[in-house]
Amino acid sequence: MPVQSQFPSSMPAADDNRTPSPQSPVLSRDRLMIEYRNADETTAALPTGQDVTVGLTQTPKTLPPKYFYDDQGSQLFEQITDLPEYYLTRTERQILETFAGAIATQVGSCDLVELGSGSASKTRILFDAYQRQGQPLRYVPVDVSGGILEESARALLSDYGTLTIHGLVSTYEAALSNLPATDLPRRLIAFIGSTLGNLSPQQAQQFFRRVSESLTPGDYFLLGVDLHKDTATLTAAYNDAQGVTATFNLNMLSHLNWRFQGDFELSQFRHVAVYNEGDRQIEMYIESLVDQTVTLKALGLTASFAAGERLLSEISRKFDPEQLAQRLAAFELDVTDTFTDEHCQFALLLCQKP
Ligand code: TRP
Repeated sequence: MPVQSQFPSSMPAADDNRTPSPQSPVLSRDRLMIEYRNADETTAALPTGQDVTVGLTQTPKTLPPKYFYDDQGSQLFEQITDLPEYYLTRTERQILETFAGAIATQVGSCDLVELGSGSASKTRILFDAYQRQGQPLRYVPVDVSGGILEESARALLSDYGTLTIHGLVSTYEAALSNLPATDLPRRLIAFIGSTLGNLSPQQAQQFFRRVSESLTPGDYFLLGVDLHKDTATLTAAYNDAQGVTATFNLNMLSHLNWRFQGDFELSQFRHVAVYNEGDRQIEMYIESLVDQTVTLKALGLTASFAAGERLLSEISRKFDPEQLAQRLAAFELDVTDTFTDEHCQFALLLCQKP
């Protein structure tokens, strides 16, 4: 059963069951609603960790990327987006700044569903464009982190006087299978930040199918992706000089240590990120420096690593806009515009369901 909560923007975070106090401004209550979906997955203090056991017992070893994002990991990721080598975030922001007006004009008044909304800092550029054009917009942020979602929703409400927000604390899948109904003429689903690149080709196909099923004819899909380019630029983005990406990658082991009573020694591992040109993907690994055994007590699991053995922690695929447009068309997502920067490093694809 989904838990629903409505609360005004002045209330503290993570207080989703509280009834609004009598002096709460009615307007705030009407403008914000946050709904928790599939509560077992998103609010459980202790995930079972079965995915960790599976990942560490297969060859080659892998770990699910979701274990990047404990509080420390989310903070480190915010730092990555500011690194000089990590061109992705700032380039996507530039593209949005140049074309947000055109996007708002074409899409018009809509429900903007953002999958993986996070701090929503880039999405503000779209809100600004809608506000300038005086077009009504409802924001439907979707994120697995309730804390980040509530915090950013409250900041947005106070900064955008006419915005209404219906947030979903949920996985993408659960959100897409049941999006809130709206009175606004269109739906725009946004998936930016090149998160598509973190899905395998099969996962991406399934994702496009779900997006397409969530749209009715005339609705839009906005997709932000990193583009294939020279290997030096790509590998630098995932091997920054300050070592923030390395810390972010290895932080996954600290996360497993506290969550599952593990004894990973971080100094006995190193960060490796390589560009696989054949598959056009950055592959991020955690490499064991020595022969060693690691135990995760809470999972009853012992795993052995050989010196030099690599565990795959993330892929980040790099795209060709034309090929991607063809793949999207197979799911009735027709690219109407491809927006890019002057060096064609990153692209925003605006698609419409015919
Ligand atoms: N989707 C972005 C990318 O692929 C952000 C990201 C996800 C990322 N996981 C990462 C960045 C790991 C650095 C390291 O670049």
